[in-house]
Amino acid sequence: MSKKLDPKYLKKNKFEVHLITLGDSAVGKTSLIGRYIDNYFSNNYIGTFGLDSQFKKKKINDEEINVKITDTAGQERYQSIAANYIKKANGILLVYDITSKDSFENVNKWAGEIKEKSEVSKPIILIGNKLDLEDKRVITKEQGQEFAKKYCDGGINFYETSCKTGENVNEAIDDLVTQVYDKYSKNNLNEGNNINLNEKQNRERGKCC
Ligand code: GTP
Ligand code: MG
Repeated sequence: MSKKLDPKYLKKNKFEVHLITLGDSAVGKTSLIGRYIDNYFSNNYIGTFGLDSQFKKKKINDEEINVKITDTAGQERYQSIAANYIKKANGILLVYDITSKDSFENVNKWAGEIKEKSEVSKPIILIGNKLDLEDKRVITKEQGQEFAKKYCDGGINFYETSCKTGENVNEAIDDLVTQVYDKYSKNNLNEGNNINLNEKQNRERGKCC
Protein backbone atom coordinates (compact mmCIF):
# COMPACT_ATOMS: atom_id res chain seq x y z
CA MET A 1 0.00 0.00 0.00
CA SER A 2 1.28 3.47 -0.86
CA LYS A 3 2.17 5.49 2.22
CA LYS A 4 -0.39 8.08 1.24
CA LEU A 5 -3.16 5.47 1.08
CA ASP A 6 -2.42 4.37 4.63
CA PRO A 7 -4.19 6.31 7.40
CA LYS A 8 -1.27 5.43 9.73
CA TYR A 9 0.87 7.76 7.58
CA LEU A 10 -0.97 10.65 9.20
CA LYS A 11 0.02 12.09 12.55
CA LYS A 12 -2.49 11.55 15.31
CA ASN A 13 -4.30 14.40 17.05
CA LYS A 14 -3.97 16.78 14.14
CA PHE A 15 -6.78 18.73 12.64
CA GLU A 16 -8.23 16.77 9.73
CA VAL A 17 -9.60 18.39 6.63
CA HIS A 18 -11.84 15.82 4.96
CA LEU A 19 -12.73 16.59 1.36
CA ILE A 20 -14.77 14.65 -1.18
CA THR A 21 -14.95 14.87 -4.94
CA LEU A 22 -18.33 15.02 -6.66
CA GLY A 23 -19.13 15.13 -10.36
CA ASP A 24 -19.95 13.03 -13.39
CA SER A 25 -17.94 10.10 -14.59
CA ALA A 26 -14.66 10.87 -16.41
CA VAL A 27 -14.56 14.59 -15.55
CA GLY A 28 -11.18 14.04 -13.85
CA LYS A 29 -11.94 13.63 -10.13
CA THR A 30 -9.38 10.87 -9.59
CA SER A 31 -6.87 12.73 -11.75
CA LEU A 32 -7.22 15.86 -9.60
CA ILE A 33 -6.35 13.85 -6.50
CA GLY A 34 -3.46 12.12 -8.28
CA ARG A 35 -2.03 15.46 -9.36
CA TYR A 36 -2.54 17.07 -5.93
CA ILE A 37 -1.18 14.24 -3.81
CA ASP A 38 1.46 12.56 -5.98
CA ASN A 39 1.95 15.10 -8.82
CA TYR A 40 0.91 12.22 -11.08
CA PHE A 41 -1.20 12.08 -14.24
CA SER A 42 -2.12 9.31 -16.65
CA ASN A 43 -4.10 9.48 -19.88
CA ASN A 44 -5.63 6.08 -19.10
CA TYR A 45 -9.13 6.03 -17.78
CA ILE A 46 -9.90 3.57 -15.00
CA GLY A 47 -13.28 4.43 -13.51
CA THR A 48 -13.43 4.59 -9.71
CA PHE A 49 -15.46 1.89 -7.97
CA GLY A 50 -17.34 3.02 -4.90
CA LEU A 51 -15.06 5.15 -2.74
CA ASP A 52 -11.32 5.60 -2.34
CA SER A 53 -9.46 7.85 0.14
CA GLN A 54 -5.99 9.34 -0.02
CA PHE A 55 -4.05 11.39 2.51
CA LYS A 56 -1.61 14.26 2.62
CA LYS A 57 0.06 16.25 5.39
CA LYS A 58 0.01 19.98 5.02
CA LYS A 59 1.17 23.04 6.94
CA ILE A 60 -1.12 26.01 7.46
CA ASN A 61 0.15 28.88 9.61
CA ASP A 62 2.90 26.64 11.02
CA GLU A 63 0.32 24.07 12.12
CA GLU A 64 0.59 20.62 10.58
CA ILE A 65 -2.78 19.27 9.51
CA ASN A 66 -3.99 16.11 7.83
CA VAL A 67 -5.84 16.27 4.54
CA LYS A 68 -8.02 13.30 3.62
CA ILE A 69 -9.60 13.31 0.18
CA THR A 70 -12.29 10.75 -0.54
CA ASP A 71 -12.72 10.14 -4.24
CA THR A 72 -16.21 9.15 -5.34
CA ALA A 73 -17.33 7.39 -8.49
CA GLY A 74 -19.31 9.37 -11.03
CA GLN A 75 -20.75 6.33 -12.79
CA GLU A 76 -24.53 6.17 -12.52
CA ARG A 77 -24.59 2.93 -10.51
CA TYR A 78 -22.32 4.37 -7.80
CA GLN A 79 -23.84 7.82 -7.57
CA SER A 80 -26.01 7.05 -4.54
CA ILE A 81 -22.87 5.93 -2.63
CA ALA A 82 -21.24 9.26 -3.48
CA ALA A 83 -24.32 11.24 -2.46
CA ASN A 84 -24.61 9.40 0.84
CA TYR A 85 -21.01 10.24 1.68
CA ILE A 86 -21.54 14.00 1.44
CA LYS A 87 -22.39 14.43 5.12
CA LYS A 88 -19.11 12.85 6.24
CA ALA A 89 -16.93 15.44 4.52
CA ASN A 90 -16.27 19.00 5.60
CA GLY A 91 -15.36 20.33 2.15
CA ILE A 92 -16.50 19.47 -1.37
CA LEU A 93 -14.78 19.58 -4.78
CA LEU A 94 -17.58 19.88 -7.33
CA VAL A 95 -16.13 18.99 -10.73
CA TYR A 96 -17.17 19.19 -14.38
CA ASP A 97 -15.30 18.85 -17.67
CA ILE A 98 -15.11 22.00 -19.83
CA THR A 99 -15.45 19.78 -22.94
CA SER A 100 -18.69 18.14 -21.73
CA LYS A 101 -22.00 20.01 -21.70
CA ASP A 102 -23.71 17.14 -19.85
CA SER A 103 -21.16 17.20 -17.03
CA PHE A 104 -21.72 20.94 -16.59
CA GLU A 105 -25.51 20.59 -16.60
CA ASN A 106 -25.24 17.79 -14.07
CA VAL A 107 -23.43 20.08 -11.63
CA ASN A 108 -26.98 21.22 -10.81
CA LYS A 109 -27.91 17.67 -9.94
CA TRP A 110 -24.85 17.30 -7.69
CA ALA A 111 -25.62 20.63 -6.07
CA GLY A 112 -29.12 19.30 -5.36
CA GLU A 113 -27.62 16.22 -3.69
CA ILE A 114 -25.40 18.45 -1.53
CA LYS A 115 -28.42 20.48 -0.47
CA GLU A 116 -30.42 17.36 0.34
CA LYS A 117 -27.72 15.37 2.13
CA SER A 118 -25.78 18.06 3.97
CA GLU A 119 -27.14 19.44 7.20
CA VAL A 120 -24.63 22.27 7.36
CA SER A 121 -23.21 24.75 4.94
CA LYS A 122 -19.77 23.44 3.98
CA PRO A 123 -17.01 25.01 1.95
CA ILE A 124 -17.37 24.01 -1.71
CA ILE A 125 -15.35 24.91 -4.79
CA LEU A 126 -16.41 24.50 -8.41
CA ILE A 127 -13.80 23.12 -10.81
CA GLY A 128 -13.98 23.14 -14.61
CA ASN A 129 -11.33 20.57 -15.53
CA LYS A 130 -9.41 19.69 -18.75
CA LEU A 131 -8.30 23.27 -19.38
CA ASP A 132 -5.60 21.98 -21.73
CA LEU A 133 -8.31 20.85 -24.18
CA GLU A 134 -9.12 24.43 -25.21
CA ASP A 135 -9.93 23.41 -28.79
CA LYS A 136 -12.64 21.04 -27.52
CA ARG A 137 -14.09 23.47 -24.99
CA VAL A 138 -17.92 23.75 -24.98
CA ILE A 139 -18.41 25.47 -21.61
CA THR A 140 -17.00 28.97 -21.42
CA LYS A 141 -15.13 30.28 -18.41
CA GLU A 142 -17.92 32.84 -17.94
CA GLN A 143 -20.55 30.07 -17.66
CA GLY A 144 -18.55 28.46 -14.88
CA GLN A 145 -18.03 31.79 -13.13
CA GLU A 146 -21.72 32.62 -13.41
CA PHE A 147 -22.76 29.28 -11.89
CA ALA A 148 -20.28 29.67 -9.03
CA LYS A 149 -21.37 33.25 -8.36
CA LYS A 150 -25.03 32.23 -8.04
CA TYR A 151 -24.39 29.12 -5.93
CA CYS A 152 -26.26 29.42 -2.63
CA ASP A 153 -26.46 33.00 -1.41
CA GLY A 154 -22.82 33.95 -1.22
CA GLY A 155 -21.40 32.04 -4.19
CA ILE A 156 -18.42 29.70 -4.21
CA ASN A 157 -14.89 29.96 -5.59
CA PHE A 158 -14.33 28.76 -9.13
CA TYR A 159 -11.23 27.41 -10.88
CA GLU A 160 -10.44 25.99 -14.27
CA THR A 161 -7.78 23.31 -13.99
CA SER A 162 -5.76 20.89 -16.02
CA CYS A 163 -4.65 17.68 -14.41
CA LYS A 164 -2.57 17.02 -17.50
CA THR A 165 -0.39 20.13 -17.15
CA GLY A 166 -1.07 20.66 -13.45
CA GLU A 167 -2.37 24.17 -14.04
CA ASN A 168 -4.33 25.51 -11.05
CA VAL A 169 -4.78 22.11 -9.39
CA ASN A 170 -2.81 22.90 -6.23
CA GLU A 171 -4.24 26.43 -6.05
CA ALA A 172 -7.83 25.15 -6.22
CA ILE A 173 -7.51 22.35 -3.68
CA ASP A 174 -5.31 24.39 -1.33
CA ASP A 175 -8.02 27.07 -1.39
CA LEU A 176 -10.63 24.54 -0.28
CA VAL A 177 -8.32 23.09 2.40
CA THR A 178 -7.76 26.60 3.76
CA GLN A 179 -11.48 27.40 3.74
CA VAL A 180 -12.22 24.25 5.75
CA TYR A 181 -9.36 24.98 8.14
CA ASP A 182 -10.55 28.56 8.64
CA LYS A 183 -14.13 27.48 9.21
CA TYR A 184 -13.59 24.57 11.58
CA SER A 185 -10.18 24.75 13.19
CA LYS A 186 -10.40 28.15 14.80
CA ASN A 187 -11.42 28.44 18.47
CA ASN A 188 -9.69 25.12 19.15
CA LEU A 189 -12.46 23.23 17.48
CA ASN A 190 -9.93 20.56 16.83
CA GLU A 191 -9.38 19.77 20.52
CA GLY A 192 -10.92 16.33 20.66
CA ASN A 193 -11.40 16.79 16.94
CA ASN A 194 -14.65 15.28 15.70
CA ILE A 195 -16.61 15.85 18.87
CA ASN A 196 -16.13 19.58 18.67
CA LEU A 197 -16.55 19.61 14.94
CA ASN A 198 -19.87 17.84 15.30
CA GLU A 199 -20.95 20.28 17.99
CA LYS A 200 -20.23 23.17 15.70
CA GLN A 201 -22.00 21.43 12.85
CA ASN A 202 -25.04 20.79 15.03
CA ARG A 203 -25.19 24.46 15.91
CA GLU A 204 -25.27 25.20 12.20
CA ARG A 205 -27.92 22.60 11.38
CA GLY A 206 -30.33 23.77 8.78
CA LYS A 207 -28.03 26.41 7.40
CA CYS A 208 -27.14 24.58 4.20
CA CYS A 209 -28.56 26.42 1.22
P1 GTP B 1 -15.00 8.29 -12.48
O1 GTP B 1 -14.05 7.59 -11.56
O2 GTP B 1 -15.62 7.34 -13.48
O3 GTP B 1 -16.05 9.05 -11.78
O4 GTP B 1 -14.11 9.33 -13.40
P2 GTP B 1 -13.18 10.50 -12.87
O5 GTP B 1 -13.97 11.74 -12.75
O6 GTP B 1 -12.41 10.06 -11.69
O7 GTP B 1 -12.19 10.72 -14.12
P3 GTP B 1 -10.63 10.34 -14.23
O8 GTP B 1 -9.82 11.16 -13.31
O9 GTP B 1 -10.49 8.88 -14.15
O10 GTP B 1 -10.31 10.88 -15.71
C1 GTP B 1 -11.06 10.44 -16.84
C2 GTP B 1 -10.21 10.60 -18.08
O11 GTP B 1 -9.95 11.98 -18.32
C3 GTP B 1 -8.85 9.92 -18.00
O12 GTP B 1 -8.55 9.36 -19.26
C4 GTP B 1 -7.87 11.06 -17.69
O13 GTP B 1 -6.59 10.84 -18.21
C5 GTP B 1 -8.56 12.22 -18.41
N1 GTP B 1 -8.27 13.53 -17.79
C6 GTP B 1 -8.45 13.88 -16.50
N2 GTP B 1 -8.12 15.15 -16.29
C7 GTP B 1 -7.69 15.61 -17.47
C8 GTP B 1 -7.19 16.89 -17.90
O14 GTP B 1 -7.07 17.87 -17.15
N3 GTP B 1 -6.86 17.00 -19.24
C9 GTP B 1 -6.98 15.96 -20.10
N4 GTP B 1 -6.62 16.16 -21.37
N5 GTP B 1 -7.45 14.75 -19.73
C10 GTP B 1 -7.79 14.59 -18.43
MG1 MG C 1 -12.44 8.33 -10.63
